[in-house]
Amino acid sequence: MKIVTIIGARPQIIKAAALSRAIRNHFADRIQEVIVHTGQHYDENMSQVFFDELQIPRLDYNLNVGSASHGVQTARMTEDIEALLIKEQPDFIVLYGDTNSTLAGAVAAAKIHVPIVHIEAGLRSFNKSMPEEINRIVCDHCSTLLFTPTQAGFDNLKREGFPIDNEGPYTIDNPKVYHCGDIMYDNSLHFSTIAEEKTNIIHRLDLEGKPFILATIHRDSNTDHAERLNPIFNALLRLAEDNIIVLPLHPRTAKTLKTNLDTEKQTLLFSHANIRLVPPVSFLEMVALERHAQLVMTDSGGVQKEAYFFKKPCIILRPETEWVEIVATGNAILADADEGRIMQAWQHFESHPATDFPPIFGDGHAAEFMLEKMLQIIP
Ligand code: UD1
Ligand code: UDP
Repeated sequence: MKIVTIIGARPQIIKAAALSRAIRNHFADRIQEVIVHTGQHYDENMSQVFFDELQIPRLDYNLNVGSASHGVQTARMTEDIEALLIKEQPDFIVLYGDTNSTLAGAVAAAKIHVPIVHIEAGLRSFNKSMPEEINRIVCDHCSTLLFTPTQAGFDNLKREGFPIDNEGPYTIDNPKVYHCGDIMYDNSLHFSTIAEEKTNIIHRLDLEGKPFILATIHRDSNTDHAERLNPIFNALLRLAEDNIIVLPLHPRTAKTLKTNLDTEKQTLLFSHANIRLVPPVSFLEMVALERHAQLVMTDSGGVQKEAYFFKKPCIILRPETEWVEIVATGNAILADADEGRIMQAWQHFESHPATDFPPIFGDGHAAEFMLEKMLQIIP
């Protein structure tokens, strides 16, 4: 079986490591993977670092598309993906998540009848102002095999009319949905102890034996709007009076802080003794930080989940989340970009430490399950 895997944004590169590892370890004689990087993320610390440390195989194609508006970026990728699919003639294209690289792969493949495997299918925020919501809905509805990481994802697809107990042959018009667990959980389990051995970020940031808050902010709805970015940083600066905060900065945020954050807050932020403002860190460093953090504050989908994997409370800097289960367990609180709600959530977790983290994300072998199902369809 030949698959073409499309990656482009940081979390997709990380997710692809789990599938490539499962192919290498269990299916090397039966599956050929062609890896395509759209070039959506391109800084060394947003892309190459993951190939090096997660042992992702060499790229077969780099489309070098780079940054642009949604339409331009997606169009450039679509054109190039179509051409390489025609050349490679794969049995499946594998798409991850909900980025513009996912959308481009879905549109290119569906129109020339290459079956799509969507990993991380079924997630919904029910907020179509998010570019990701558009991308994931289009991709799901163009797919032949859909793998949902959570029960909520499975239920969303059922509600949208996807057949559930259908027999094959599976096609875009008779798609098959499997609930199989989260491929990022596979990675977090696999790399958890490796991260402890191979990184020194805790020492480097002078965090040994010190409690700290790990924060990430990159969602365009937060970074691109001063009226949302400022309250988030008001809360962070208040928390920094008594706590250490580690903040690896996504390049989007690094740029928009300069234009959208009030000048006096910028001055405080960039000189604060308790705030470790650092460039994006590697995945192993991120895992080490998540393992040692006291609490996580984030608008990232992946980081919300990883907080849960490592049994840490999480304050979600969004009005809603696709990962509804982690909120339902009480281990994450939706605080939006609201200074008061962020502070209340912090106080809540101080007085009610999170202790119970029931399994939500599968058994750590989602990648093997997906590959077996693909092989059953194309033996
Ligand atoms: C993208 C995804 C988002 C995902 C995130 C993961 C879409 C619509 N959004 O958002 O779902 O959560 O990736 O991190 O696909 N930039 C650099 N260097 C890079 C990459 C980006 O400087 O290597 C800067 C550029 O100014 C660029 C901006 O970041 O314009 C945004 O990058 P882009 O890939 O368009 O969106 P993200 O916010 O990263
Ligand atoms: N991540 C990382 N370095 C960082 C920040 C995040 O390796 O400096 C990892 C994080 O551990 C997770 C993934 O990137 O696996 C999440 O990506 P991101 O937050 O960019 O996007 P999202 O998950 O929201 O799409």
